[in-house]
Amino acid sequence: MKALTDKQKTLIDELLEKMTIDEKIGQMNQISPSIVGGFDVSFEELIEMMTDGRISKEEFNNLMAGAKQDFHDDVNRAGGLGSVLISDPEIVNRLQKIAVEETRLGIPLIIGFDVIHGFRTVFPIALAEAGTFEPELFEKTGRIAAKESRASGIVWHFAPMIDISRDARWGRISEGPGEDPYLASVFAKARVRGLQNDDENPENYVAACLKHYVAYGACESGRDYNTTSMAKSMLHNTYLPPFKAAVEEGAATVMAAFNDLNGVPCTVNSYTLRNILKESYGFDGFVVSDANAIKECIIHGIAEDEQDAAIKAASAGMDMDMGTWIYSKELKPAVESGKLDIAYINEAVRRILSIKMRLGLFEKPYVTEEEMHRYDKLPKEHLAHALEVAEKSVVLLKNDNVLPLNKTSKISLVGALADIPEEVLGSWALSGRAKDCVTIYQGLKNAGADVLYHPCCGPEGEINEIEVQAAISEGDVIVAVVGEFASMSGEASSRADITLPGKQQEFLKMLLDSGKPVVAVLMNGRPLALSWENEHLPAILECWHLGVQMGNAVAHILFGDVNPSGKLSCTFPAMTGQCPMYYNSPKTGRPGSKSKFTSRYLDAPIEPLYPFGYGLSYTSFEYSDMNIQEEKDCLKVSVLLKNTGNRDGAEVVQLYMHDVNASIVRPVKELKGFSKEYLKAGESRKVTIILSKDQMGFYDDDAVYHLENGKFIIYIGGNSKECLEQKITIV
Ligand code: BGC
Repeated sequence: MKALTDKQKTLIDELLEKMTIDEKIGQMNQISPSIVGGFDVSFEELIEMMTDGRISKEEFNNLMAGAKQDFHDDVNRAGGLGSVLISDPEIVNRLQKIAVEETRLGIPLIIGFDVIHGFRTVFPIALAEAGTFEPELFEKTGRIAAKESRASGIVWHFAPMIDISRDARWGRISEGPGEDPYLASVFAKARVRGLQNDDENPENYVAACLKHYVAYGACESGRDYNTTSMAKSMLHNTYLPPFKAAVEEGAATVMAAFNDLNGVPCTVNSYTLRNILKESYGFDGFVVSDANAIKECIIHGIAEDEQDAAIKAASAGMDMDMGTWIYSKELKPAVESGKLDIAYINEAVRRILSIKMRLGLFEKPYVTEEEMHRYDKLPKEHLAHALEVAEKSVVLLKNDNVLPLNKTSKISLVGALADIPEEVLGSWALSGRAKDCVTIYQGLKNAGADVLYHPCCGPEGEINEIEVQAAISEGDVIVAVVGEFASMSGEASSRADITLPGKQQEFLKMLLDSGKPVVAVLMNGRPLALSWENEHLPAILECWHLGVQMGNAVAHILFGDVNPSGKLSCTFPAMTGQCPMYYNSPKTGRPGSKSKFTSRYLDAPIEPLYPFGYGLSYTSFEYSDMNIQEEKDCLKVSVLLKNTGNRDGAEVVQLYMHDVNASIVRPVKELKGFSKEYLKAGESRKVTIILSKDQMGFYDDDAVYHLENGKFIIYIGGNSKECLEQKITIV
């Protein structure tokens, strides 16, 4: 997206001059179509009925599909809508036509939608993609998603989701790039570049929306929407960095989070919205609330009524209301009674209009018939990217010489997840289509495997023992696809127990009792506690929800046509009770050890099962000859990396540091750089990663950044646990 031209700035001034207060407030109103008529119960009650199982998800969806929708055409015609959350291009055009041709000022709508990991071409969930450690891939994923959605008239993605999450119980960990602020910042910048790329042609870009601002991932005990409380140092060192980085990259919009932060809901938090985002970071786009969040300020108990909530939100810097109509109803009386300064409204409208102009909406508000159908069939280039990212996202967690499989071996494929098309899409893949999905069963068949399939058992329900017996008797090797349904992660999908759900562990025991080798292929949207599986299974592949090309990617990895190279973007605890667990924890005075009076549990290991940055390969890598060269502004850290196996492969070389003696307690390790290296079998390469001295500081509890001299330990290696290290003193 380009910056505003002088001509556009003048146009905005002219529009603001002409607009009535109602038209201004209209710009700040985002709606979703309302469901009307036909129900004996309210929409909220229907959701409850689905949650407690009185109606199935399918019945709910059918009811919704059959329901009449109200798009509020009259309000639109009167200039009362600024944005609509929809995805059907025909409806986009119809609503846009009213806004452009029938309102007094002809201001187009900005159509927003949740496009989190792909639009039509659905890519791996972000948690998986982050594990590729390849910013070029993150960027290209964004670019393809932008093009595809723009052809449907969607010009605004509620993405990237860049919440740091250190608690695997939180379902929304699936949507973001994991637990590390540095990796998440690299991801955030690349995604913003991809979505908003500077191409001349508006058909190719959309506005990004950084969410959820901020610290939503720190919700207490991993329970969604729960309260969040932390020191300012923690906020600035851990949760804000990806947002800061993405704002510096030019992100156009931001969505405030649902949670309260230290007692103030992010929706009305003037410290985070105004002081940090708009003033300190210089963010010049607009902020939207999360769905219904302005109203929820009353439930939080910090707003007396709707008008109070509207005043608090608008004056804190909340520019657009998602879905409550409270701005529409309450801002005008608040201004007229002198309770709210009109300057807040003018500022919000200026910001919203500037993004609409930069998106080229005034020139091209509609999509053509050709565009609407452009991606009915997914283009080869998009599919190739989906396959590449999926292959590179797979993390090999364990392998006792079972993988790769021999193409001639007879495979017994089991697990209900192996052949349900939509399940490969993962959470938040609203525009993905079952017809485009390649399941693992299909992928194995495409690869020419000798495969027989029996579902036997899924994440819910019973084990079909007859099928298990058939599966056991037929194959030379058993490939068991186990894990979580896509709906078990994402929003409102926190879990208090992160072991394999349902009877899947019992099912794996039955398979192992056969004496045949069992490979577990995991499909899940969060780290799972896999201690038992790690102890008993000879091979475990973490395959997440990999998107439309999942089946092909998994087959290529199983057969060794592609060597796994993904690394974990989040720690896998050994037990749920260890949550929250993350590699970069502040150093305690009594780090956990064998001794009793240290920071540990009586009944759990000190260490996680698999650390951040971990992932095996079919080849092996050796690190040696670490060297640090200090320059004026940076450290040049190098290491000799050797592929010591007999296959070509890729390794993510990771650079960490620890500040040994600082004015506040610092993390035991912090990722500061990485480099993905592709090495032929037997090849050696000197890898150098630059650590800029600016990166070696931290924020204190007054949000002041410090760069302190003294002792540091620099680490370099293939995961956050196993590294070479050297001490250095910076003077
Ligand atoms: C989610 C957001 C999403 C919004 C609009 C909310 O429930 O928290 O992430 O963008 O809905 O769909």
